[in-house]
Amino acid sequence: MSNIVIVGTQWGDEGKGKVVDLLAEHADIVVRFQGGNNAGHTMVVKGEQIISHLVPSGILQNKTCIIGNGLVVDPEVLIGELDYLSERGIDTGPDKVKISERAHIIMPYHKQVDHARERMKGDKKIGTTGRGIGPAYEDKATRRGVRFVDLINPETFSEKVHAICDEKNFYLKNYLSSETLDPDEIIETYSKYADRLAPYIENVSVTIYESIKDGKQVLFEGAQGTHLDIDHGTYPFVTSSNTVAGNACGGAGVGPKEITGVIGIVKAYTTRVGAGPFPAELFDEIGDQIQKTGAEFGATTGRKRRCGWLDTVILRNAVRLNGLTGIAVTKLDVLGGIDTLKICDRYDYKGKILKDFPADLDILAECKPVYENLPGWTEDISQIRSKDDLPENTKNYLSKLENLVETPIDIISIGPDRDETIVINNPFKKS
Ligand code: GDP
Ligand code: IMO
Ligand code: MG
Repeated sequence: MSNIVIVGTQWGDEGKGKVVDLLAEHADIVVRFQGGNNAGHTMVVKGEQIISHLVPSGILQNKTCIIGNGLVVDPEVLIGELDYLSERGIDTGPDKVKISERAHIIMPYHKQVDHARERMKGDKKIGTTGRGIGPAYEDKATRRGVRFVDLINPETFSEKVHAICDEKNFYLKNYLSSETLDPDEIIETYSKYADRLAPYIENVSVTIYESIKDGKQVLFEGAQGTHLDIDHGTYPFVTSSNTVAGNACGGAGVGPKEITGVIGIVKAYTTRVGAGPFPAELFDEIGDQIQKTGAEFGATTGRKRRCGWLDTVILRNAVRLNGLTGIAVTKLDVLGGIDTLKICDRYDYKGKILKDFPADLDILAECKPVYENLPGWTEDISQIRSKDDLPENTKNYLSKLENLVETPIDIISIGPDRDETIVINNPFKKS
């Protein structure tokens, strides 16, 4: 039996949704373990595109989809997503979707604080998605958060909201010069969410544990990417949760011995949305070409994604931090038609070679990527279904990547559709 974790290796949007949708065929349960609706995961099946922000990307394969304790959940967005999916004929009833009673809830003041803080920071802003993610995790860490278990208990909920609104309103008004909120209005709105979501709420750690005991297979779906991790990413230009594979355990309520494999999703080049360091970023027409061909717009905010060459310094970091057992390379088709491709394999910091990703952003800002040049290809590779049939230069690009990161490529994606994929080694069947 296999239980596999999927994580992003770069700065998010690597194509996790596509790979999770593909591999979910072999799983019984798909679990999100961190983040919130800052995530935008795209699945395309026979030309039809579905973007999910909270419901795990196993939903199109009709699998049990679990929202783990490690998430911060905006109930309004979740209800909207359940409706959007069911309007498309997808079963999103409480037998299919389950929410951890311990997951934290994004409240109106979290979104307001997120926006107001970014406004105040001006050109120093992080470029958050504005979904209230950071402020919700902040309240979780300072033990003032509201959980689903509180939402369905009217007395506790009312007490908590009144107590916290006093403090939030003081901060909103006096520090952030923002509007204040009426706790009774919040309670009224959220009690409707409670009625709707109550049947979905349970102790999902028990559900997962019992399922594994019964021989079922679990796929853990990471959000964001390794370099947006609160500890290991380009702090403070990061999200507010641990995005690395180890947090699949903490954020879903399972023990580490259950995990049998970790697949890192690697976009064939690099993108980043929002502010923060990005050593291999391109500012020329090749960057524009990649942005256009790859349709690199944020699936959550619609912002243009910054584009750059493949950076194996960050990928090696991801291999170590996540314990990757394999990688899935996505969007390889997008690189077609570029004469010379570049792969960064180290940084030059004032004449000194750095092979590991520095923590100090001032050092990072001075790092110049050192590239290896590789010949590109012009063929359309999106119809190819076997690695052997890929053009020689495409195969060379992949073996260079595989050698630099010392991790096997298990999956190659050459188009957004579920079918546009070459599976070399299915992680659920790997011995
Ligand atoms: P995620 O957040 O990691 O799930 O990734 P997103 O869904 O935000 O962004 C990935 C985008 O690339 C989506 O629009 C996908 O449909 C698309 N995509 C995924 N794999 C491929 C691929 O191999 N080729 C192309 N051209 N597009 C892809
Ligand atoms: P998926 O799961 C790309 C980025 C934001 C911002 C930073 C902090 O689709 O890969 P936050 O709202 O989390 O406080 O913003 O993190 N960010 C993402 N970038 N993909 C994502 O998710 C992201 N989720 C957050 O742009 O720079
Ligand atoms: Mg995304």
